[in-house]
Amino acid sequence: MIILDGKIASAAIKESLKKEVEILTNNGKRPPHLAAILIGNNGASETYVASKVKQCAEIGFQSTLIRLEEDIAESILLQKINFLNNDVSVDGILVQLPLPKHINEQKVIEAIAPEKDVDGFHPVNAGKLVQGLPAFIPATPYGIMLMLDHFNIETKGKHAVVIGRSNIVGRPMSILLSSNIKHGNCTVTICHSHTQNLKEICLQGDILVAALGRPQFVKADMVKEGAVVIDVGITRVEDATAKKGFRIKGDVSFDEVAPKTFAITPVPGGVGLMTIAGLLKNTLQAYHQRQ
Ligand code: GUN
Repeated sequence: MIILDGKIASAAIKESLKKEVEILTNNGKRPPHLAAILIGNNGASETYVASKVKQCAEIGFQSTLIRLEEDIAESILLQKINFLNNDVSVDGILVQLPLPKHINEQKVIEAIAPEKDVDGFHPVNAGKLVQGLPAFIPATPYGIMLMLDHFNIETKGKHAVVIGRSNIVGRPMSILLSSNIKHGNCTVTICHSHTQNLKEICLQGDILVAALGRPQFVKADMVKEGAVVIDVGITRVEDATAKKGFRIKGDVSFDEVAPKTFAITPVPGGVGLMTIAGLLKNTLQAYHQRQ
């Protein structure tokens, strides 16, 4: 059984990005620049954004973190986004989700200029992805494709089962796996909360992607012998014995599932790290496209 180690795969990608930035700056060019907007004090969002900013610094990207109060008016947020859209020194913009309830998430996503939408959530990028056109791919599915590439996982002709149909992970993942691209060309089944016979469908998956956000949901009796299992879950589960009072749990019961698989991603240390690698690659792409 192979552990698809996100630390190893993301380190390799970051190393190559770092070299590219060095070449740019050695030639007198400015580095790529990511602007991140964080609203409120959601603990998980704080951690993710801090990690994004830190990893930008590690590879020589410029980053700007804009923190806004939980009760910020939607109109002010839209103004900030518009300002970043027009700032020629900014290549990529991300607004960390989820947003406070009084803010219309779709309106915010659509306010970001598609050419700076390094999260790939804007309908223009989502539509291009569906049509097989060059687009910013949402960072988590992109990171998973990079992971499959790093570990040379063959996907052509395989049956991929994706649990979850979110715009951030499940839906774009199913499109990538079914596309005529490297590590695509799968037959894809998307499962969701109304799926009947979920266990039987999961058992058919040569590749099983769990992206439903329910800790330890996938058990050994749902997984085909020799499958490749990708665990996208990163739920904080309270645990008084843990240092921070919680542990990060995946959507897969790793200990019982892992022995049945050909390859599996751990949580933490799997897909989460690849997500940031995907975001950094998108930011470099935005930089090049804007030159
Ligand atoms: N919240 C959870 N995942 C993501 C992501 O990939 N991007 C942003 N902006 N927010 C998120």
